[in-house]
Amino acid sequence: MDNINGLDVKHLAEEFGTPIYIYDCEQIKINYTKLKKSLDRYYSKNSIHYSLKANSNLRILEYIATLGAGADCSSPVELELAQRSGFTNSKILYTGNYESEEDLKKAIEFSVRINLDDISSFKRLIKLTVPEILSFRINPGIGKGGFEGITTAGSDAKFGVPYEMAYDAYKLAKDVGVKRFGIHMMTGSNNLEPYYFAEIVEKLMTIAGKIFIPLDIQPEYVDIGGGLGVPYYDDEKELDIELTAKLISEALKEKSAKFGFGEPELILEPGRYIIANAGYLIAKVTGVKKSYKTFVGLDAGMNTLIRPALYGAFHKVDVYGKTNKTNLVTLCGQICENSDIFAKNLPFPEVEDGDIVIFHNSGAYGYSMSSNYNNRMRPAEVMIINGKPQLIRRRETLDDILTGII
Ligand SMILES: Cc1ncc(COP(=O)(O)O)c(C=O)c1O
Repeated sequence: MDNINGLDVKHLAEEFGTPIYIYDCEQIKINYTKLKKSLDRYYSKNSIHYSLKANSNLRILEYIATLGAGADCSSPVELELAQRSGFTNSKILYTGNYESEEDLKKAIEFSVRINLDDISSFKRLIKLTVPEILSFRINPGIGKGGFEGITTAGSDAKFGVPYEMAYDAYKLAKDVGVKRFGIHMMTGSNNLEPYYFAEIVEKLMTIAGKIFIPLDIQPEYVDIGGGLGVPYYDDEKELDIELTAKLISEALKEKSAKFGFGEPELILEPGRYIIANAGYLIAKVTGVKKSYKTFVGLDAGMNTLIRPALYGAFHKVDVYGKTNKTNLVTLCGQICENSDIFAKNLPFPEVEDGDIVIFHNSGAYGYSMSSNYNNRMRPAEVMIINGKPQLIRRRETLDDILTGII
């Protein structure tokens, strides 16, 4: 591919430099609208809370807020960003992990709904306040992600209240004076199988029945987290979002009717689904080495897009103007780690210094996981809105690296 929403990638690279993240707002809107329409069709009382950790550039957040989304925040700064970019507090949920007292103080200050990771977090919270409304993140005992590093429930997961202890958590909260409740889970990221979502909603609702019926609680919301996947490999099929929405709402309705829960609000917290395929990382070839293998080095590396080095994720790559993938190469960055590898044995065209490389699906967990390692500057970010490219974060400079040194 040589253009993004009609704009020539080489021109974009020349105008803004490389490496650079480019986001197509039109695609963000398509993703959000597709999900929202499917949910509305099957369960009207639904909310989409965009997960800021996927991509939290303020301009992107402002754009997503205008689409009508709520926000899923995981840190005090994410709360600040959500508020500054126009998300209303009533549509923000705070889900931490091993939340400190300072984290909890901030969530209280922002008066957002708090979703707690553990009973021990609740004990820290009640030293500060007893909230009117609360939920716990439940580990339902099963979890699935695209791969192990993004599986966030089950016996190895550091997240959530084990479902066997969930009743105790809610009982304690009710005894202490919390009046209104929801329930939450987030079992893994990048799932492409609709029936998996049905399975976990059923499991969570079965757990909800065992907690809320004996405690005489009507849950006000059921938050099933994010996890909606996108295909990273050519042979993967897109998630059938219509079927997913249908199955989720059927499971929710069936269990709610059975347990007399009325119609709780259904919350989803997608990050990847909203922004992954709207983003591209554009980099430049900085060297081709014929060593024991052929290495193609880029001006982007694990400092720019860490997912391949961190947990073996794959991002499809194109080279501008070259489609004939006749070589097998190892694609790497400039960082002094031998794990600074994007892909091994990758079918690739014959390239030379200066060729432009385009990484797909880089909108989620790209810039937000980038670093200054080896004192490389973080890249710039551009969003294409109304057909025009707009710089939304300048490239870092030496001054940014020196900021904070005393
Ligand atoms: C609590 C919570 N909600 C939502 C998300 C977003 O997940 P995804 O990008 O898979 O939709 C995450 C990601 O880790 C999360 O931890």
